[in-house]
Amino acid sequence: MSKTVELAIIGAGIRGNGYARFTKHYPDRVKIVAVADPDAVRRERMAKEYDIPPERCFTGYEEFCSHPKMCDAVAICTQDNLHEAPAIACAELKYDILLEKPMAPTEEACRRIADAVRKNGVLLTVCHVLRYTKFTRTLKEILASGEIGEIITMQHLEPVGYWHQAHSYVRGNWRNEKESSNMLLAKCCHDIDWIYDIFGKKCSMIQSFGTLRHFKKSEQPAGAADRCVDCPPRIESLCPYSACKYYFRNRFSRGLRGWPTSVLTNGPETAEKLEEALTCGPYGRCVYACDNDVVDHQVVNMSFEDGTTAAMTMTAFNFAGGRKTRIFGTRGEIDTDSSIITIHNFLHDTTRAVDINTINDGGINSGHGGGDFGLMDCFVSAVAEGDRKCIISGVDNTLNSHLLVFAAEKSRKENTVVFMD
Ligand SMILES: NC(=O)c1ccc[n+]([C@@H]2O[C@H](COP(=O)([O-])OP(=O)(O)OC[C@H]3O[C@@H](n4cnc5c(N)ncnc54)[C@H](O)[C@@H]3O)[C@@H](O)[C@H]2O)c1
Repeated sequence: MSKTVELAIIGAGIRGNGYARFTKHYPDRVKIVAVADPDAVRRERMAKEYDIPPERCFTGYEEFCSHPKMCDAVAICTQDNLHEAPAIACAELKYDILLEKPMAPTEEACRRIADAVRKNGVLLTVCHVLRYTKFTRTLKEILASGEIGEIITMQHLEPVGYWHQAHSYVRGNWRNEKESSNMLLAKCCHDIDWIYDIFGKKCSMIQSFGTLRHFKKSEQPAGAADRCVDCPPRIESLCPYSACKYYFRNRFSRGLRGWPTSVLTNGPETAEKLEEALTCGPYGRCVYACDNDVVDHQVVNMSFEDGTTAAMTMTAFNFAGGRKTRIFGTRGEIDTDSSIITIHNFLHDTTRAVDINTINDGGINSGHGGGDFGLMDCFVSAVAEGDRKCIISGVDNTLNSHLLVFAAEKSRKENTVVFMD
């Protein structure tokens, strides 16, 4: 039997807790032995839940990294602009590293992380969770079988969702490029990485367009207030993005708890905490009166070395979210929403569907279509057994797909096509 991996969580927020939960299902495989977070509420909550002794609770990665190596691996789940420093410090201390995506907000910072990881010979796994889903594995098997021939082109849609956009990318943590990342990196580094993985070849040219078209002051309805709680009811009741409508009436009043409402209250929601957050906090702001600057829609075109192509669209403006992809091959076509894969066969003029939900691969349901725990499963095995084969979002793969994201952003900002070296 493999050893039990000892893991430290750096950043005990939403994602840190998500990965920590894996240990409850597999206590023999991995144990949380340390936590680092300046937020005392979050730090103590995690310490209590995972029985972490006080001497292993740290006020941040800075304090954690001032000690000699104390466990096998770290999960770095801090915000985007706080990945580089802990990743480099942990690599120098020879920890194996699970690093949340994106690696870092700039190409230079990503390269510095990659250099530190390579220099110290540690394992880096970036949380490109889509690669680790049952859906992606099944799709790749179908593609490898030759059933649709050679992929010639792909259409990929990332419909973020009108409320998710308002929550995360207008009012929330990823709204402002300087404070966090650009939208493509924050949200769609997953999609670009996934497309790159599915094609499995070099992308030679990339081009992008996109703007912040809607969530800005000029679109604010006349007479609206800068906070939803202060907005005249005749205006607030007509606004699909009202914070009172979404967090309170649609979720809290209907008994829906947890993310994203828990983000407003830093833990279990009460009516009082929610009211205070809407009255004073960032999530109560009018979507037309925030300090957001990231785009609300973007397209990216990719041309691969053999002339095959992919087109990706990201949009805030849709109801339900949920990625959708069409893959056009020389012998067939695939249509999928990540749940059902429909395969149209040109030769036999037939259509068949594969329902991912009916495939039992022994994995446990988790966020991102099982990708969160699929990733943890591979990471923990790789750390325990020293076998890195199952890590498919390591340093080289991730750096390559991040470079495509940076190139696409350059294209968008400079109105140009970027030729990849
Ligand atoms: N893989 C995915 O699909 C996915 C999904 C959502 C978010 N993310 C990424 O995960 C990361 C974390 O997102 P989140 O929603 O969990 O954020 P979060 O804000 O809930 O958690 C971040 C935590 O880091 C802590 N922190 C701040 N400074 C610190 C320091 N010096 N040392 C240690 N901890 C510190 C904060 O107090 C907070 O608790 C982000 O980079 C985000 O882009 C990835």
